[in-house]
Amino acid sequence: MKPIKVGLLGIGTVGSGTFNVLRRNQGEIQRRAGRGIEITTVADLDVARARQVVGEGVQVVADAREVIANPEIDIVIELIGGYGIAKALVMESIAAGKHVVTANKALLAVHGTEIFAAAQARGVMVAFEAAVAGGIPIIKALREGLTANSIQWVAGIINGTTNFILSEMRDKGLDFDVVLKEAQRLGYAEADPTFDIEGVDAAHKVTLMSAIAFGIPVQFDKAYVEGITKLGAADIKYAEQLGYRIKLLGITKRTPQGIELRVHPSLVPAQRLIANVEGAMNAVMVQGDAVGTTLYYGKGAGSEPTASAVIADLVDITRLHTADPLNRVPHLAFQPGALSALEVLPMSEVSTSYYLRLRVADQAGVLAKLTGLLAEAGISIDAVLQREADQVSQADENQTDVIILTHDTREGTLNAVLTQMQALPTVMAPIVRIRKEELN
Ligand code: HSE
Repeated sequence: MKPIKVGLLGIGTVGSGTFNVLRRNQGEIQRRAGRGIEITTVADLDVARARQVVGEGVQVVADAREVIANPEIDIVIELIGGYGIAKALVMESIAAGKHVVTANKALLAVHGTEIFAAAQARGVMVAFEAAVAGGIPIIKALREGLTANSIQWVAGIINGTTNFILSEMRDKGLDFDVVLKEAQRLGYAEADPTFDIEGVDAAHKVTLMSAIAFGIPVQFDKAYVEGITKLGAADIKYAEQLGYRIKLLGITKRTPQGIELRVHPSLVPAQRLIANVEGAMNAVMVQGDAVGTTLYYGKGAGSEPTASAVIADLVDITRLHTADPLNRVPHLAFQPGALSALEVLPMSEVSTSYYLRLRVADQAGVLAKLTGLLAEAGISIDAVLQREADQVSQADENQTDVIILTHDTREGTLNAVLTQMQALPTVMAPIVRIRKEELN
């Protein structure tokens, strides 16, 4: 059988990896897919660089629409990124009857509903394994491997840049700003790292996992997003003393009230495997009612790890493109007509436990007042620690740090107590609040 023909839009880091791995492993990939898979046309604005990557024998064009218009091409790989031209090209590819493979989490998290509906109507597949956790086959696992389960929650370290920064902060006792600059100097963090450090990239990914895990539409606009920019070395140190590590987690959970969908720094018990995922590595935990807890670990970014996911999608499409669309695996794991109307909960309705750090005057009755406010609100305390405060001036030397761990409570209830605590004259600095996840 003739090879299936693929057009590649954007040949940067992941595109080059895809081209190289496909060529290197073509024999084995063909034995798996049942026929060859060949990138025949590449579109990139930098034609000269694209030509250097692919050599001779592959068409290189500057205009992506030439690829979409080519009737010989069955699959378009979109590796341009962003919401602008990438969205137009994906929609045009679908309209032209092409199957699409994309690593574009931002595009799918924001416009997924429209894109999947268009693909469904046109009878084509939009595959996106590479959009979440790079080389880890977490989409396949959630959508197919765990299909017997009622999934209860998914929690993941799904941004390598922030995990690298947090690992360095803990190892070296440094503050966020210092480590970020070093990460940029070493090329681990982008020149503009906003999406990574503010949690937006992780929120795109957890939005997609949430949709697949629970059979709900993709709803990035409902996700709660908090990054790592306000974390200090002191909290990482105190967390360690209490037996926890701080990780930026993407969390989505099914509760009787609705779906939780959130990204924020979280204390995780140090003995959990996921707490020991260091550097730029990713890991995702999935809890299903039948299987229990499962853990997936690997490289969440990079040229060939992400190419591994792109090519897995190419193989899937090659195997399935002649199948009746009704017999294919649905984009969001559940049949399009069977999506759930479960609401995504606002953050004030989420229940979790908390780490609080308060810089207070070291006077009689201060701790009693704080714990009294928690008790009045029905919030139970798990642990309290008092430590001599670091970095206080001589004038402030009668101040101390009080760290309180709470049991589970509604975030709205805690917020009200925090407002009361912050107003006390004995609370000398903004209260630090970090959520805590036991993941058991
Ligand atoms: N910038 C992401 C990360 C990789 O640091 O994990 C692409 O999503």
